[in-house]
Amino acid sequence: MPLNKYVRMNLTCTNLSGCMSLKCFTMQMKSFTNGVKDFLKMPDCGYVPSTYRGKNYEETKKAYELIVSPSLKSFYKEPLMIHEGRGQWLWDYRGKRYLDMFGGVATVSVGHSHPKIVAAISEQASKLNHVSSVYMHTHLYEYAEKLIGKFSGKLRVVYLTNSGSEANELAFLMARLYTRNHNIVSLRNGYHGATYGTSASTAMSTWKYPFVTQPSGYLHAVFPDVYKGTWGGSKCRDSIIQVGRRCNCRDEECVASEKYFQEFEELFHFSSSCTCSLAAFVAESIQGIGGAVQYPKYFLQKVYNYVREKGGLCIADEVQTGFGRTGEHFWGFEGHDIKPDIVTLAKGIGNGFPLGAVVTSSEIAKTLNSALHFNTFGGNPLACVVGSTVLDIIEEEGLQQNAQTVGTYLINRFSAFLSEFPNIVGDIRGKGLMIGIELISNSEMKKPLETERMLEIFEDIKNMGVLVGKGGLHANVLRIKPPLCITKEDADFTFAVIKRALKKHEDKYCKQSGT
Ligand SMILES: Cc1ncc(COP(=O)(O)O)c(C=O)c1O
Repeated sequence: MPLNKYVRMNLTCTNLSGCMSLKCFTMQMKSFTNGVKDFLKMPDCGYVPSTYRGKNYEETKKAYELIVSPSLKSFYKEPLMIHEGRGQWLWDYRGKRYLDMFGGVATVSVGHSHPKIVAAISEQASKLNHVSSVYMHTHLYEYAEKLIGKFSGKLRVVYLTNSGSEANELAFLMARLYTRNHNIVSLRNGYHGATYGTSASTAMSTWKYPFVTQPSGYLHAVFPDVYKGTWGGSKCRDSIIQVGRRCNCRDEECVASEKYFQEFEELFHFSSSCTCSLAAFVAESIQGIGGAVQYPKYFLQKVYNYVREKGGLCIADEVQTGFGRTGEHFWGFEGHDIKPDIVTLAKGIGNGFPLGAVVTSSEIAKTLNSALHFNTFGGNPLACVVGSTVLDIIEEEGLQQNAQTVGTYLINRFSAFLSEFPNIVGDIRGKGLMIGIELISNSEMKKPLETERMLEIFEDIKNMGVLVGKGGLHANVLRIKPPLCITKEDADFTFAVIKRALKKHEDKYCKQSGT
């Protein structure tokens, strides 16, 4: 029997000790046969997960509600309780299988519980877990050397952290020390972390707490979105899918990028002193939490030149776009043809292991010598071994190429939604396996789809066995950022599931209202 059918039947027939009652089995078979047309065929996966034998769902949920921070929000009405993962697959405590098209927020790069990583962790854990940076161990320099091999030019020094927020915070510190300036400029709709400084550089109201005074020295510039913004058209985006609006851009010349750049400059005419000097400009290569937003071509090049004229450094936040996710390049910034002074990394770097990094030149790195700086866990032997194995796997399994091939295939398939569901699907964008589907309720006004309606679609997609993310200021963008090992079959399944959810939604709302 194919595994997907096995898993589906197992869904409700298996009690928590793994036993199946005959009555339950018969009922389940009946409902399974009746409901078969509601299921799309999930690709086989060839792996049988273990039976969950832990605390029951209700007790766990209650414990979560009582003792876990309420700020940790569940994605679904009934929170998913995930028990096991393998490759691009996840199983919940009942044995229901999901295709993980979100990768733990673009973090699982080479696949859940990759056997090579499991072996590497196990071997290293049996020898040495931790010494802190006051002693040397070979794994740190071996990994640093391997990671630096992925960069060119002056980016020759690595500082390891435990997260993306830490990496960005450290990058801001280095930039301030190096330039002796204080101001950090970021782009609206960007996300750079949850610490004091990085949340100040994050420019989305949904991530800002009331009453808390933001630290000084953070400026938020333009939101150069060619879909919703004033400028941008059919040639402006570095993607196989463009926005519908026509534009007069020529090769090497993008009108929208010039317009948005002028707006960027205006920040310095109106919101700061004429002599405002910059410590740094920070931007994601494609905005992640902001909803897979791509800037117009050449925009970052113009900004980088301007920032350098103002004495600042340029920081590329590669926390989501790094490690081959965008397919065409290993680093997202390479797609913009720019040379950052500092690059920050996290998420995919450790495939789920807490690891982050700042990569920069030795001159900039030296600035940290002006005081003591210490990070207890940064660069610990386990993290280094995991990071190193992740790099090996990406190379050995051709995962960057896979992101390019399967990602391009999937974006192309999704593009059909624009003509099939013009009342709900406003934009499809992205590169490689970093894809966004923007849902709207008014195509002319590009009005974001209302939260309730968005959640219905989101739940339906999950119920059919696919996990995707949501993002954008109004949380109306479906975000697709799976482990880089997904196949075309997985892409087809994802496409079919999202299509069915959109169709159901359209039948319910759009046909009713006659739109
Ligand atoms: C682009 C970007 N930068 C920085 C961060 C912060 O990383 P972390 O959550 O590991 O602190 C995130 C997290 O989602 C991110 O998406």
